[in-house]
Amino acid sequence: MIPFEELRAAVGAEHVLVDADLTASYERDWTGRFAGRAGCVVRPRTTEEVAAILTACGAAGVSVVVQGGNTGLVGGGIPAGGEVLLSLTRLDELGEVDVPAAQVTVGAGVTLAALQAHARAAGLDFGVDLAARESATVGGLVATNAGGIRVLRYGSMRAQLLGAEAVLADGSVVSRLAGLLKDGTGYDLVSLLAGSEGTLGVVTKVRLKLVPRARKSCVALLALESTQAAVDLLPGLRDRLPSLSAAELVFADGIALVRKHSGLPAPFEVDHPAYLLLECADRDDPTDALVEAVGEADGLLDALIASDAAGQRALWAYREQHTEAINAEGVPVKLDVSVPLRLLPTLVDRLQPTVAAVAPDARLVVFGHVNEGNLHVNVLGAGEHGEQVTDAVLRVVAELHGSISSEHGVGRAKVAWLQLSRSATEIAAMRAIKDALDPKGTLNPGVLLPSAPGPA
Ligand code: MLT
Ligand code: ZN
Repeated sequence: MIPFEELRAAVGAEHVLVDADLTASYERDWTGRFAGRAGCVVRPRTTEEVAAILTACGAAGVSVVVQGGNTGLVGGGIPAGGEVLLSLTRLDELGEVDVPAAQVTVGAGVTLAALQAHARAAGLDFGVDLAARESATVGGLVATNAGGIRVLRYGSMRAQLLGAEAVLADGSVVSRLAGLLKDGTGYDLVSLLAGSEGTLGVVTKVRLKLVPRARKSCVALLALESTQAAVDLLPGLRDRLPSLSAAELVFADGIALVRKHSGLPAPFEVDHPAYLLLECADRDDPTDALVEAVGEADGLLDALIASDAAGQRALWAYREQHTEAINAEGVPVKLDVSVPLRLLPTLVDRLQPTVAAVAPDARLVVFGHVNEGNLHVNVLGAGEHGEQVTDAVLRVVAELHGSISSEHGVGRAKVAWLQLSRSATEIAAMRAIKDALDPKGTLNPGVLLPSAPGPA
């Protein structure tokens, strides 16, 4: 039984939502792939309120699903049915930027865009960026160890994390927010929370590393013969361009789809087999260096370069509008995988026949973050073959020594395939950690690990 009285006492009755019209937006992900009815939605504002909620739910034996900006793509923040949905968007405190240390402490509900604006106002920046920046929250980015478009330069979310405050399943609070750059005192609990998808504790605050603010940037769209050509260019580009901050891979069918839904003009007179979008960002203008590097690129078929803000935005639009354009066509099977970089061209080549073998009428739209060997594999029109498509693609990824989830998390969507990426020993170790920190299985049951004990 949901402990309504304790929940209302903890956060105030107006922040315990029960009516279907008030809870609906929390109970479905924006892609329309995941939906479930929550017992109620609770909206705390402080760590203490989160602690009171978890204490009450733990005592009542009620499960809790944790949600940030609801931009997740694997169903990890959507209830299966009947849980208390803990929405963290009101934990939106922006601490003062510590300029000498280049660090800041912020609430888990702060959006990525708000964090970026806050850091920039202090002359610094935040190292992670991604298209869902206006809604995605810092807590969700930590929970999924989000990556995005700047991993090449600054690493993923775990690499920005210097400390955290988190409420454990029994309501106790772990708080490490000093931002120490050196700390040799045992297990790194903060790092463990990154990528734990709300299964080990509820992150309420984080201490984050900030990066120097680039004042000038330049974007290039390169038309290339193949994915292999894009991979081959990378070592030279990284070497010549210390300001390189993004290298994104797109293909002609994805650009055509973006154009269909956005009305953007064609970037080049004819279509090309592959496109590499590069961004350089620095204190001083990186345009000359990028132009020179592009001019000497092997296998270049055509190129566009923009150093003015509007031109850069226009080139980024071909990449950033992929997700929305795909979703405008229907609900896709969305897979987010990575393989060792040398095997990325092999994966690209194998995708079409793999999908066609199980879903002949399906349409594939692929794009990704090339430096990390990370492909977003979107399959439209898979119909009743969705699960077979997922299984077939993830098996190819496993064969190529890859990961079944590169940056979106495992959520509910990929639990059944976790053993393709993690050994039985690793899964048993993860299960032991989960059981030690959340022995009643209160937090996000069925997310990341199966609800029942995992495979032996
Ligand atoms: C992206 O890189 O745009 C995101 O991971 C979203 C997606 O895969 O659709
Ligand atoms: Zn991505």
